[in-house]
Amino acid sequence: MVITEMANDFGGSLQVENVQALASKDLNDVPPRYIRPERQSEQVLIDESLQIPVIDMSKLMDEDELMKLHLACKDWGFFQLINHGISEEVMEKMKINIAEFFNLPLEEKMVYAQQPNNIEGYGQAFVLSDEQKLDWGDMFFLIAQPPSLRNTRLWPNIPGSLRATLDKYSSQLQEVTISLLKLMARNLGIESEKLASLFEGGTQGVRMNYYPPCVQADKVMGLTTHSDATGLTLLIQANEVQGLQIEKNCKWIPIKPVSGAIIVNVGDIIEIMSNGIYKSIVHRAVVNPEKERLSIAAFHGPRMNTIVGPIPELVKDKAIYKSIPYEEFIRLVVASKLDGKNLLSNMKLQI
Ligand code: OGA
Ligand code: NI
Repeated sequence: MVITEMANDFGGSLQVENVQALASKDLNDVPPRYIRPERQSEQVLIDESLQIPVIDMSKLMDEDELMKLHLACKDWGFFQLINHGISEEVMEKMKINIAEFFNLPLEEKMVYAQQPNNIEGYGQAFVLSDEQKLDWGDMFFLIAQPPSLRNTRLWPNIPGSLRATLDKYSSQLQEVTISLLKLMARNLGIESEKLASLFEGGTQGVRMNYYPPCVQADKVMGLTTHSDATGLTLLIQANEVQGLQIEKNCKWIPIKPVSGAIIVNVGDIIEIMSNGIYKSIVHRAVVNPEKERLSIAAFHGPRMNTIVGPIPELVKDKAIYKSIPYEEFIRLVVASKLDGKNLLSNMKLQI
């Protein structure tokens, strides 16, 4: 199948105004479509003592660290990974290149704009109706793995080193993902290859997020509350501005990235495959009143044709989730509004 046909198959998002361009207009008030009334009544817990676990990848042969990883996946669904082996140079270059890309004039970025009915490219994701509230952010989404699925026409030529940097970053992240999945399988008490074998040669989508500053930062949302639909997400904040928050006990916990760490979270697919033992946690991104914020999220999914469903060995009494082909799952993801754990509840079997 031709690559573009494949991406086309999954559907896309409606085109809306570029937020970076909108933010540069020096508005006093943001347009009503970006205002989120629900933000007025919420409770944001700012508790420095509550932070997601930090896992040291170089210590994961120790039982203690392995147990820490298990609890992180079970109780938090989120952790920061240090000593992960990703080259510092590649990580730094990635951040610089992405910042350079978003700082290009709009016309130059629009060369890579999303086409109707396609999830890849520069634009916004998950806009499905003209009434829907909009996020205060732009994004640039590329499928980076497997290389045969790359739509290289959308891989920017400017800045010059972006393609090569993304290529390296992407394959190093893929390796870390596979290593983590082997350890997670051990922790779940199944053969270490059980999960990893489904993800080897699997898909990786890279979503580069740009959140402009906003004069009414506390009234808008950078990225709507959601859980990630993939297996594992590996995210880095590309500048020093914080904004990621995760939901725990009905409150929002702001994540403070540890220098050099990768933020890892369990996605819906691993929650499904582990039959609910590991949790895909709801999270969101808020924006800063003065500074732009950039982040890079890499979503790791299984190989095409994999059946997404509970691993039989992990079904003790009943399967909580349905099993469906990965392609069908992706179509559901693209068609469902980014709305909390909407998708996961659709995958739940009636018990
Ligand atoms: C995402 C995401 C958070 C952030 O892209 O799925 O959750 O910090 N991003 O940008
Ligand atoms: Ni996310």
